Parts: sequence; C-alpha cells; structure tokens
Amino acid sequence: MLRDKSSSAEAQALRDDILLRTRRYFRAAYEERTFTPDEDVVPVSGRTFDESEFVALVDASLDFWLTTGRYAERFEKEFARWFGVRECVLVNSGSSANLCAIMALTSPELGERRLRPGDEVITAAAGFPTTVNPIVQAGCIPVFVDSELTTYNADLSQFSRALSPKTKAVMIAHTLGNPYDPEAVRQFCREHGLWMIEDTCDAVGATWNGQQVGTFGDIATVSFYPAHHLTMGEGGAVMMRSPKLRKIVESFRDWGRDCWCATGKENTCGKRFDWQLGDLPHGYDHKYTYTHIGYNLKLTDMQAAIGVAQLAKVDHFIAARKRNAKRLLGLLSEVRWLGLPSEAPGGSSSWFGFPIRVLPGAPIDRNTLVQRLTDRKIGTRLVFAGNLVRQPAYANVAYRLVGELPNADTIMNDVFWVGTFPGLGDAELDFIARAIVEAAVAHESSR
Ligand SMILES: Cc1ncc(COP(=O)(O)O)c(C=O)c1O
Repeated sequence: MLRDKSSSAEAQALRDDILLRTRRYFRAAYEERTFTPDEDVVPVSGRTFDESEFVALVDASLDFWLTTGRYAERFEKEFARWFGVRECVLVNSGSSANLCAIMALTSPELGERRLRPGDEVITAAAGFPTTVNPIVQAGCIPVFVDSELTTYNADLSQFSRALSPKTKAVMIAHTLGNPYDPEAVRQFCREHGLWMIEDTCDAVGATWNGQQVGTFGDIATVSFYPAHHLTMGEGGAVMMRSPKLRKIVESFRDWGRDCWCATGKENTCGKRFDWQLGDLPHGYDHKYTYTHIGYNLKLTDMQAAIGVAQLAKVDHFIAARKRNAKRLLGLLSEVRWLGLPSEAPGGSSSWFGFPIRVLPGAPIDRNTLVQRLTDRKIGTRLVFAGNLVRQPAYANVAYRLVGELPNADTIMNDVFWVGTFPGLGDAELDFIARAIVEAAVAHESSR
C-alpha cells in the first residue's frame, strides 16, 4: 500500500507547477473564435468554460480521491446558498436527481404521505422522459395534462380535472427554463395534501416574482449535463429545505443505506456498532444496514470541481442566456408565421433554449425548416420527447390522460428550439434569424 505524501513540500510545489502549466495549456489550446456564417457551426448548446474549470479539474485529479469529496461538499454548500434552499445533494445526472426525488417520497419514513404503487402523480405529456420515468419506476401512475402553446408549460387549468383520490404528487418541469406559476401549483398541492416536485433541470436562474424557481415545492432537481446552465459533464442535484428529506434522498443515492457518514468517514452517528434495525442482530454494522431499496448515484470529485468553477460564473451565464433570448425575440418578432415564446406574468425565464413554433399556414413546415437550418450548420432541437405518450417506450405503460392533449401534439409537430447559451454571440444569433427567413423564401421558390 502507498503512503500519502501529497502534503509534502515537494508534492505541493509540483502541484503548483502543474496548475500553472494547466493555465498555460488552456491559453495555448483555446481562443475566442470569429464567426463565419455557413462555415462555422452554430451549436444549440455547449460548455462555456475558461482556464478555471481546467485548473479545478486537474487539482481534483491530483487529489486522486476519485469519489465524492471536498469539492462536492463545497459545491453542495455554495449552490444551496445561491439557489435559496437549505439542502443540496449532488448526484450523477438530472435524471438521477429525478429518480432520487420520487424514490425519496416512497420512503416508509414519510408514513401515510408516502407514495405507494398505484398512486397518481400529475405531470405534463410534453417534456423530457426522465421527468416521468421515475414515477413509472416507483409503480405510480403518471396523469398527463396538456401544455400551453407559448410557454410550453403544463396547463395548470387542467389540474382539477387531473385530480383523483389517488393523487399524491405533482411533478413538472419549467420547460426550457421558462417558469410556470409555482405559487399556483403550491397552492393546489397544499389544498389537496400533495407533494410538489419542481424539475428545474433546465431552469437554473429562472424566477417567479423574483424568487428562484425550485424553491416553491418540496423538492427540486437540477441537471449539470453540458447543455445546461452549469455543467460538470455529467451531474445533477436534488434541492430541498427539509433535512429529513435530505437524509432520505442521500440514502437512495448511497445504496439505500441507513448510515449517513460522508464518503471516507466512519461512525458519524457515534454508535456504528450499537444499532438494532429490522431483523438484524443488535450491533450489526450501521454502514451495512439498509433502510431503502437504493442505488449508487454519486458523482466524482472531478465533476464537482468543474461545478465549483462554473458556479462562480452562474450569474453571468444566466444574464447571457436572457440577453440572447431577448435578441432572438427582437429579430424574429416581425416574422408573422412564427409563434414566439412568452413569459407568464411574474415569470422571468432563464432560457435553456429559444422555442419557435411554425404557425398553421406558414410558407414552410417545421421539419423542412429544421432541415434547411441544419444544412447551414445551425443546430436545432425539438421540445424533447414531444408528446411522451406517442413515444414507443410508453406503449405499455399504465397512465391516465386528461383530455386529448392537442397542444402536446402541436409541440411534437410544429415546435423546435435554437440555442441561447452564453457561447453564442450577436453574429450567430443574427445568422439564425436571417437563415430562418431565408429558408422560407428558398422553400417557396423551390415549389
Ligand atoms: C426537464 C429535464 N429533466 C431532466 C433532464 C435530465 O437531465 P440529465 O441529462 O442530466 O439526466 C433533462 C435533460 O436535459 C431535462 O431537460
């Protein structure tokens, strides 16, 4: 076995040198590009980074701690403070965050309020699959409401029709960073004794009446995949006020264990060999005592280190996304055949992307437009799964529908989005707007 000499003067001096060279490497390897339309790609999303992410990543690598460690601990504290809740639990993706959030609500520790198989969870049909999949995995029934057509958020007016004696929770995403009214959802949940989970994977920095979305419900989730406001490569977080929920979420993340020791620590509870739980013998090691059917969804400290560097720039990232969306809105507002997004009164979007609807009677259909933009190297995306219930994966899933979901079909057929991420400048955004108009002209003249 190796003895750790990493705090020796020689090791420290080498580390400083490596980090200095890492900065130099970054400067040698990257520079701001100038944009040439039709030659350079206009990505729909991407990592925005500088030398500080490189330095943090290499620093964490030299620790060689590998699993969750000092950077993760720091990120959880700093991000919770910035977000405006007490607790943050890091996980390895936004999907894992959603899984932990729903599974936490199945815990026997929550008594009568816990989710049981057959219970119903209100959600939106137009969205991302892993907002819904944990509901299915918990044996619960997703109840799909339709969405609105300019915010692309769940239609809250359908909630009373979605409600049944089996309803236990509401779990919906703030679509593409644009907030739904979380006060109205919270009011509905309080009236009917429901859990409220806000999927804020795409909505870091979005606010409702000045308050960060994700702080209205019982639990919120965040993704740090590269397309998102902050990235760790892969990563996610579960946010909540309640320390009790935190402990349950951590248990599901950490194999389902009852022990709450941080990685590498032992006997935090002071009675590691003095518990008696279940039918286990008294004194059975608490580290190996399981109170939930859990997983291992932890991330590595290298990922968290990148997050710490990103978090220092979060306000700047959000401002850039807002600025870019505002520019696109201005550039496209005269195009009569496009439906542009709007914010609900009280909502301030932290645009994950800029959704565009091709209106009925437009000179070009959505698919042809997307193809023509692709030909000009402009990245586009659809609003995730479109209408989830039309996806093959859900063919044999038990769910309930509220009405026919016509707007989810419109979102599936007629809507796409373009990028707003901070890596895009005015030149790229102007080109996107110009290329949309030119695509329609070229399509009409080719017919
Ligand atoms: C609304 C929503 N929820 C959850 C996720 C899943 O996040 P991840 O890709 O980190 O698993 C995404 C992914 O973009 C998303 O858009």
